[in-house]
Amino acid sequence: MSPSPALTPVAPPHERLLIVDFGSQVTQLIARFCRESGIYCEIHPFHRVDAGFLAGFAPRAMILSGGPASVHEAGSPQADPAWFVAGIPVLGICYGQQAMCVTLGGQASASAHREYGRADIEILADSPLLAGLAARGDSERVWMSHGDRVEALPPGFLALARSPSAPFAAIGDPGRGFYGVQFHPEVAHTPRGRQILRNFTHGIAGFSGDWSMAAFRTETIGRLRAQIGPDARVLCGLSGGVDSAVAAMLLHKAIGARLTCVFVDTGLLRHNEAAEVVGLFRDSFGIPLVHVEAGEEFLARLEGIADPETKRKIIGACFIDVFEREANQLGGAEFLAQGTLYPDVIESVSLSGGPSVTIKSHHNVGGLPARMKMRLVEPLRELFKDEVRALGRELGLPEAFVGRHPFPGPGLAIRMPGAIDREGLAILRAADAIYLDEIRKAGLYDTIWQAFAVLLPVRTVGVMGDARSYDRVLALRAVTSVDGMTAEYFPFEHEFLGKVATRIINEVKGINRVVYDITGKPPGTIEWE
Ligand code: XMP
Repeated sequence: MSPSPALTPVAPPHERLLIVDFGSQVTQLIARFCRESGIYCEIHPFHRVDAGFLAGFAPRAMILSGGPASVHEAGSPQADPAWFVAGIPVLGICYGQQAMCVTLGGQASASAHREYGRADIEILADSPLLAGLAARGDSERVWMSHGDRVEALPPGFLALARSPSAPFAAIGDPGRGFYGVQFHPEVAHTPRGRQILRNFTHGIAGFSGDWSMAAFRTETIGRLRAQIGPDARVLCGLSGGVDSAVAAMLLHKAIGARLTCVFVDTGLLRHNEAAEVVGLFRDSFGIPLVHVEAGEEFLARLEGIADPETKRKIIGACFIDVFEREANQLGGAEFLAQGTLYPDVIESVSLSGGPSVTIKSHHNVGGLPARMKMRLVEPLRELFKDEVRALGRELGLPEAFVGRHPFPGPGLAIRMPGAIDREGLAILRAADAIYLDEIRKAGLYDTIWQAFAVLLPVRTVGVMGDARSYDRVLALRAVTSVDGMTAEYFPFEHEFLGKVATRIINEVKGINRVVYDITGKPPGTIEWE
């Protein structure tokens, strides 16, 4: 696959923060905090940040992320001494703190007590980093996730807080503006984590907060023009979700008629989806749209395939074949645009080429085949869902569209564990439509982040009328989330669930049992595959 070229930065007229990525799954939450606080930031993997890079990027401050490695493993990521002679404040988080300490002459080691989850730290000293939190001697709730810890401070550093298992839970060298925390202030489970980050960015580093979503929109349009050039054509895969719609609107503003949108009916869509999407795009947005019927092709290639990753890869390959055929029909297109979001990226590969673990190959990221000729354009690659929604509003998308629940590119294929069968697809479509209909009638659609049905490869015995049934089991899923990275199951009233189950069993032939999924993310993912 042609790598997705990072959008070329057009020197933005903003103060900049550099996030150095050591491979944490939550690095992007730091970026998100920055954007919400009006700070322009970029994430770059640790091994690409050297003295030359720093001179070119000219950040006002740096934050070093956490990461899965242990500072003592051979070949583990190291902090470059050049980062600490640039004359700018640095905040190290978890692994970032340990790496900073080791480089500056301190020590870190494997802790006898690995610490995951909630912890209380005791504040030991007044400092600008912990200003506005608990007073000296009092405790503050934080979220820890670490095996290693700092054992000896580098010269110039003081302990600012400790926990029972981490003597240096927060540290600082105020003279040089270097700070470190063993816990994760960027996750929602550290209640006053945002205050700590803000103390660093606005207090210690002096950011004024001069960036906004309107600025992101204007700058992204400029970067897209620079990336695509004056003549190239772009094909944009529209899924019907808000992400690809926002990507298409940005591209339309950047390159006008050189953009063609393609909506592929994969045979894996929900009830009525194709008609709704095509109607909306042609009628409301006036963006040229090609509607391709490719259901037979997708289903034939998926026949008998039960492994989730193989399914995802096949679907990715089918999409590309369809897009390349359409590009040829248009007389060629150099770029393929997708509405890939950050959660799609972080769980497939590390966004910035850094080291993070693969959870699943989202079809529009790791699922694309290497042979694809078109180059990728992914203008939303660094955003979270709620940020894309804000951008959609900024671009004038109708509210009903902006608020649509996400629907994954691989569609119903990943909502039917095991091999896909056409009868099952029809059953799943009918049951899913009833479930969403009841959710809308109950006025819950906008409160729930995403809701869908999953058809299980399990048959159970039931009794319907006076007869024995031996039919399929349907699972219902509904979650609340802010960004898709973490989620909680939605606490429906039992009466509501009972009503949905009764309707589905009565109206959909082939299902005789309905269950509700009460798993959060983590440990589950939102989709079942
Ligand atoms: P998971 O299942 O990874 O899902 O917790 C997080 C969010 O991403 C959506 N999702 C996808 N979206 N292509 C997409 O466009 C994919 O391959 C894909 N897989 C999951 C999922 O529906 C949820 O909103």
